[in-house]
Amino acid sequence: MVSLGVNLYGRDLISSQDWSIEEIEATLKLAGEIKVKYRNKELLPKLLEGKSFFAIFYAPSTRTRAAFESGASMLGGHSTFIDVSTLRVGFGEAVKDVAKMYEKYGHGIGIRCLDDAIDYKYGLGRATVEEYARHADIPVINMACCTFHPTQGMQDLMTVREKLGEVKGKKYVIMWGYASKLRGLCSIQEEALIMTRFGMDVVVARPPEFNIDPEIANTAKENAKQSGGSFEETTDLKAAINGAHVVFPRSWASWELLKVGASKFGVDKEIQLHNKYRNWILTQELVDLMDKKGIVTHVLPVLRGQEATDEVMDGPRSVIYEQAENGLYVKSAVMAVTMSEQLYK
Ligand code: CP
Repeated sequence: MVSLGVNLYGRDLISSQDWSIEEIEATLKLAGEIKVKYRNKELLPKLLEGKSFFAIFYAPSTRTRAAFESGASMLGGHSTFIDVSTLRVGFGEAVKDVAKMYEKYGHGIGIRCLDDAIDYKYGLGRATVEEYARHADIPVINMACCTFHPTQGMQDLMTVREKLGEVKGKKYVIMWGYASKLRGLCSIQEEALIMTRFGMDVVVARPPEFNIDPEIANTAKENAKQSGGSFEETTDLKAAINGAHVVFPRSWASWELLKVGASKFGVDKEIQLHNKYRNWILTQELVDLMDKKGIVTHVLPVLRGQEATDEVMDGPRSVIYEQAENGLYVKSAVMAVTMSEQLYK
């Protein structure tokens, strides 16, 4: 396999922002090699032989769980799915104690903590992931929290590159889409961070009440300064989509709700706010404003008929299934680079 040129053994992954450009590139290169071998039905190196990954879910998952489990198996290791409700944490067991125990049993820990599990209160999911990372002397991988979703960001960069080639100077639009449900900011902010680092012109198009975390927006602006890209938030959806190379339509809860939590803000009040913006749906008419070679992405799950129409999500520009497939390779690569000594011999 690839000679990495970086050493990520034992490293946590809380956000892609924590890894250098070289470290992300090396991981994506390995993911690319795994993809070629897997697709060609070639034998994959047993980079995770004898390795156990504990994937602790405070919140549900269709893709992330499956990709970590399949990825661990195909590299010769094992990922154990742990629904947090089956742990003693609800009984009052400290996160610190879980982290220290699992450090003895295995070689990596994944944590997903967001949305309902934290009453949508911004900061709580990240704090939980960071608490595991502080106490466990094995890698802790953020499988999505209130703030970040690093493996998603990396797999989406991989997909965008496969489809567009050089991404520098290309326009990446993250569009708020209507939803009758609440969703957090993890993928939105991860995309803003990683795409600006790699030189893209990132535009977050959203109604006035739906700004992202101002600190993350500032970091995205700093990233863009370093990379030659740009970052802006706008309420002008049509202008944002005009000439876009990528459009990612997804809902997220208002910043006022996220700051205090759903119970305090009121779910009905939030849905009434969403209802003001029912016309924020990615339609074919909007897609026709994009660059001729532009693509439509989504981290999934997509709320069809709300965030985007079926026509768009099933249309020729949609790359959603390939994007999800790349999650298998990136998550496999992330486990390998952080947990496998073999890569560094
Ligand atoms: N994109 C993503 O993380 O999907 P799941 O929530 O299904 O894992």
